[in-house]
Amino acid sequence: MNAIIGQPVSRVDGPAKVTGQATYAAEFDLPGLAHAAVVPSTIPCGRITRIDTAAAERAPGVLAVLTHENAPRLAYRQMEKRAQVDAQSGEQLHVLQDPEVRFNGQPLALVVAETPEQATHAAGLVQVDYERAEAPTEFDPARGKPPAEENAKAGRPGDAGRGDADAALARAPVRVEATYEHPREHHNAIEPHVTIAQWEGEHLTLFDKTQWVDNDRKEIAHVFDMPEERIRVVSPFVGGAFGSALRTWPHVTLAALGAKVAGRPVRLELTRRQLYSSIGFRPHTRQRVALGATQDGRLQAVVHEAWSQVAQYEEYAETTLAPTQHLYACANLRTRYRLVEMATNSPCPMRAPGVATGVFAMEMAMDELAAELGLDPLELRLRNYVERDEQKDLPWSSKKLRECYEVAARRFGWDRRRPEPRSLRDGHLLVGTGMATAIYHSDRSAGSASVALTGNGTAVVRSAASDMGPGTYTSMTQVAAETLGLPVARVRFELGDTNLPFAPVHGGSITMASVGNAIAAACGAVQSKLIDLVRAAAEGPFAGLPAEAIAARDGGLARREGGPVVPYAELLRQHNLGWIEAETSAKPGEETKKYSSAAFGAVFVEVRVDEALGTVRVPRIIGAYDVGRVINPKIARSQCIGGQVGGLGMALEERAEWDPRFGKVMNANLAEYHVPVNADIIEQEAIFVPNDDRNFNPLGVKGLAEVAICGIAPAIANAVWHATGKRICKLPITPESLL
Ligand code: MOS
Repeated sequence: MNAIIGQPVSRVDGPAKVTGQATYAAEFDLPGLAHAAVVPSTIPCGRITRIDTAAAERAPGVLAVLTHENAPRLAYRQMEKRAQVDAQSGEQLHVLQDPEVRFNGQPLALVVAETPEQATHAAGLVQVDYERAEAPTEFDPARGKPPAEENAKAGRPGDAGRGDADAALARAPVRVEATYEHPREHHNAIEPHVTIAQWEGEHLTLFDKTQWVDNDRKEIAHVFDMPEERIRVVSPFVGGAFGSALRTWPHVTLAALGAKVAGRPVRLELTRRQLYSSIGFRPHTRQRVALGATQDGRLQAVVHEAWSQVAQYEEYAETTLAPTQHLYACANLRTRYRLVEMATNSPCPMRAPGVATGVFAMEMAMDELAAELGLDPLELRLRNYVERDEQKDLPWSSKKLRECYEVAARRFGWDRRRPEPRSLRDGHLLVGTGMATAIYHSDRSAGSASVALTGNGTAVVRSAASDMGPGTYTSMTQVAAETLGLPVARVRFELGDTNLPFAPVHGGSITMASVGNAIAAACGAVQSKLIDLVRAAAEGPFAGLPAEAIAARDGGLARREGGPVVPYAELLRQHNLGWIEAETSAKPGEETKKYSSAAFGAVFVEVRVDEALGTVRVPRIIGAYDVGRVINPKIARSQCIGGQVGGLGMALEERAEWDPRFGKVMNANLAEYHVPVNADIIEQEAIFVPNDDRNFNPLGVKGLAEVAICGIAPAIANAVWHATGKRICKLPITPESLL
C-alpha cells in the first residue's frame, strides 16, 4: 500500500462544511431553546450604583434578567494548578457577582428571552447608573511591572539572559538600537463565540466554540463547583479561532447561568462588537532592541525589552522574548519584560502569541544592523547561525534553517538584489525586497486516543481534539489510515467532545505532535490486541503463534515471514466480534531533556510602494519551512499561506483604535478593523524543506501553524525600508506613516 502520510489528501470534512452539514456550536437545535443577550458596561472603571431591569423584564418574550443583584452566587473555585491557557488559577473575572466595573464592555446583565431579537431588544432596556473611578486607560510603559514568577517559569521570560549584555554592548564596535511597537490586534475569526448551555438535572451540556473541550469542562466545573463528570462539552467544528477559543471566557459561564435560571437550554452568541471586549486579543506591545556586533557582523550583545498591556484583574504574559534567546549565536544577551496594567478586558494568545511580536522587533533590528554593516541581511543571519539552543544549552532535535534560507532565497532570486534602498523602480512605484527568519518553539503534551476496528472493515478513531481550521480531521485520519494499513475512506476520526479520550489544548502548534502520536500509539495497541486474540484462539490462521511471528500490515494481519494478509474485518468475523477497541495515551519522554525543538522558516517578500499615496502592495511572499515531517502537503500549504496572510495583516492593516477617554476599541467591526482580503494577496508560496524529526517524537513532525505568521511582518517592514529608505517601526505600516 502506498504511504498515506505525506499525501495531499483533500479535507475529509470538506464536503460537510461546504454543504452546510457541519454543525457548529451555534447550530445545535435543541427543543425549547431560548436566547440570551449581554448588557455590557459603558464605562472603563467604577461601580454600579443602580441597575434597573423593570422595563427589560416587561418586554415581550423575556424569560429572565440576571444582574449581580439576583444572579446565583458562583463558587469560582481556584484551580489546583495553573491550567495551560487559562488565567492563573482559573477565570478571575467573576461575572454578575459584584457591582464592580473593571473594563468597558464587561457583562453587567444577561437577558434570556424566547428569540434572539427579543433578548437583544430587552438588553437595550436595562438602565445602569455608575459611580466612576479613575483607572489607567493609557498604555504607559513607565508603569510596567514584572510578571509573576510562575509566568516567567512557564517559558515567558522576564528578566533573563546570559553573559553580560550591557558591557558587551558598550564595547561593541557596531551598534543599532530602536523601539518597535504594534497595536492591540483582534482575532476576528469569522465564527463568533457562542455557547449553548443545557441543564438536565445536575448535568450540564455545553455546545461551545472552543479549542479545548477538556479545559472548558474543567473551568466550568470550578466556576460552578461541580464534578467534571457532570459536564459534557461538545465542539465538533470551529470556524476559526487563532487562539481566542483556547480558554473559557465569561460568556460560557453566563450561558450556563442563564440556562439554569430560565430552566431552558440557552444560546448566547456574542455580537461582532462584543468580541472586541469579551474575548482576548493580542496586547499592545512596545519593544526596544539593541544589538552590538563586530565589524564583520558577529553578534556581541543582544538586549531585548518589552512592555505589554494587561488587564487589572488578571495577569497574562507572553513568550515575546523567548525567540530572541535562541535565534542567533550570541554569548551576551539580556531580556526584560514588563506588564502595563490597564482598564481593559484581558489579552490572550493570538496567532503565534508573543513570538510573532518578538520576532518582529528582533528581525527588524537585524535588518538595520545589516544595513549599518553594509552586509547582506541573509549573510548577516548566516554569520550568526546557531547550531544549538544557547539559552537552554541543548542541541536542537533537528534544525534545517540553513536549507530554508537557501531554498527560499533561490526561489525568490535574492542574489539579484541591489542592497541600496530606493534602488529599484517600476514606473512610479518603488520596489523593495526584504527577508526575515521565522521560528516557533515545538512543544508536545500528553494526549490519548482510542481506535476501534469494526467488522465492516472500517476504523473509528477518537480523541477530544479540536479542528479550528488547520485540518485536524484530515491529518489525523491519515495518521490512523497509514498506521492501520487502511485506505483513508475506511477511517473516521471523531473529535471535539469530552466523552472522547483526553486531548491537550489545540493551540501552540502542538496538536499533531501530541494527538497524532497518541493516535499512532492507539492504532498499534489495537493491532496488538487483535494479534493476542488470534494467537490465543483454538483455530484459525494464527492460532498458537508467538506474537512476534504476526505482523499487522495492509489492513490486516499476516505471518511475519510472509503469506496472505487476513483483513481485520475477516478476523473479527472469525471470532464473532462486531469490533475490537483499544485506548492509549502518549506523552513526551526523556527526549525533552536532551533536545530543544522548534520549527524554523525563512521568508522573503517583495513590496511595491506608491509614494504619492503611501500604499504598499506585496506582490510576492515566499517562505521555506522546516516543520519536521509534513503529514499532508496540501493542508500544510494552506496553513502556511494562511499564516502569511495573518502576517501581512499585522504588517499593513490590523489595528484596534483604542480611545483612552472611553477605554474602548472604537473600530469594533470588520468594516473599520482592517484585515487582508483577496485583493491584498497576490502571490504566495510555501516550500517545505524535507525533514523527519524522530528526536522530537515518533511521528517526526514539529509544530506547523504559528511559525507561518512569524517573520512576515518584519520581512515586509524591511522590504518597505529597502523600497523607500524609511524604517517604519510602528505597525501597521499605513499610508499616513509613509507620507
Ligand atoms: Mo494558537 S494562538 O495557540 O490558537
